Amino acid sequence: MNNRLQSLIVPVFLAVSFFSSCSSSREMQEHSRLKSSTKGLKDYYKSFFPIGVAVGTQTLQGDEKDLLLREFNSITPENAMKMGPIHPAEDSYFWRDADSIVNFAQQHGLRVRGHNLLWHEQAPEWMFKDSQGNQVSREVLLDRLRDHIHTVVNRYKGKIYAWDVVNEAIDDDPDNYLRKSKWYEIIGEDFIAKAFQFAHEADPNALLFYNDYNTERPEKRDRIYKLLKQLLEAKVPVHGVGLQAHWSIFEPTEKELREAIEKYSSLGIQIHFTEVDMSVYPWEKDRRAKQPGEVDTLTPELEQKQIAQYKMVFDIFREYRKHITSVTFWNVSDRYTWLDTYPVSGRKNYPLLFDTQLKRKKAYWEVVNFKK
Ligand code: GLA
Repeated sequence: MNNRLQSLIVPVFLAVSFFSSCSSSREMQEHSRLKSSTKGLKDYYKSFFPIGVAVGTQTLQGDEKDLLLREFNSITPENAMKMGPIHPAEDSYFWRDADSIVNFAQQHGLRVRGHNLLWHEQAPEWMFKDSQGNQVSREVLLDRLRDHIHTVVNRYKGKIYAWDVVNEAIDDDPDNYLRKSKWYEIIGEDFIAKAFQFAHEADPNALLFYNDYNTERPEKRDRIYKLLKQLLEAKVPVHGVGLQAHWSIFEPTEKELREAIEKYSSLGIQIHFTEVDMSVYPWEKDRRAKQPGEVDTLTPELEQKQIAQYKMVFDIFREYRKHITSVTFWNVSDRYTWLDTYPVSGRKNYPLLFDTQLKRKKAYWEVVNFKK
């Protein structure tokens, strides 16, 4: 190398390495600043929307409680308010768990999303049968539904600001419209409108949501849109759509997510993401047992994909903050998630932002590291 060339290259090399070391050390400083912070998700997202989590009574104590109070400002009872658990027999309600969740929220200044008032699953058998075991009439079922909704909504009036009123009424089969549930069979198509009316009668100030899954898949999205549009045109008190967001590292795509948000919000209703998690496996509809030799560890490849997917969806959430008024995770950490048993029993999943030790995962840092 001649001297002239060397005198050019050396300073350029030194300058490049100086600037790159500055930027990586800046990044490291930024990272350690974030890591030592006691701020939680709710604080980073303070000017965007509340950040919630689904809880059982076991979450209200010990280390999960500490995490819950550090990170979240909204809770949803995972099971305690579903019709089966809360109303096990016609003349008896089981309030203990639901009450402790609502009391906990009151004590700590958390919002509560009620979940849910009508669903085809976890509905008690007695609801659909008379004392002889025969199927009840439309009138009897509507009376029972009215009583149930009035009693539950009234008990928590002023303490629950939003309810998932009807859960998952759209059929899985794209060729059908509404799911052929007992509600549909016995009452007919207007069971949905009736449920919303009953909830509104009981608490006119509560925000009422229709909640469902696979809501970003275009064919299902369009059927949900149709339902919401019909309800709104009939002046049924529906204030928002709950998009469950049981997602995976494979879906939705950014395009699907944007299009779904734009389509639902074009109806002038609020969007709540109600049950966010990010499975590391592709979606499977049918239940099955774990196969011998089936691997269920969080490999670095899966982890990278999950980080990228979490970053993408939260970037979009922030972009559409005008329409999105709540984001709730389904379960606290990878220590316990409903996906460990569903749809594949015994296969560990890692869908959340906290690991099995309740430590913040790398995906967490992507979610909170943004410019306002
Ligand atoms: C649906 C329901 C939730 C919960 C999950 C799985 O998404 O809305 O309440 O039961 O399934 O746990």
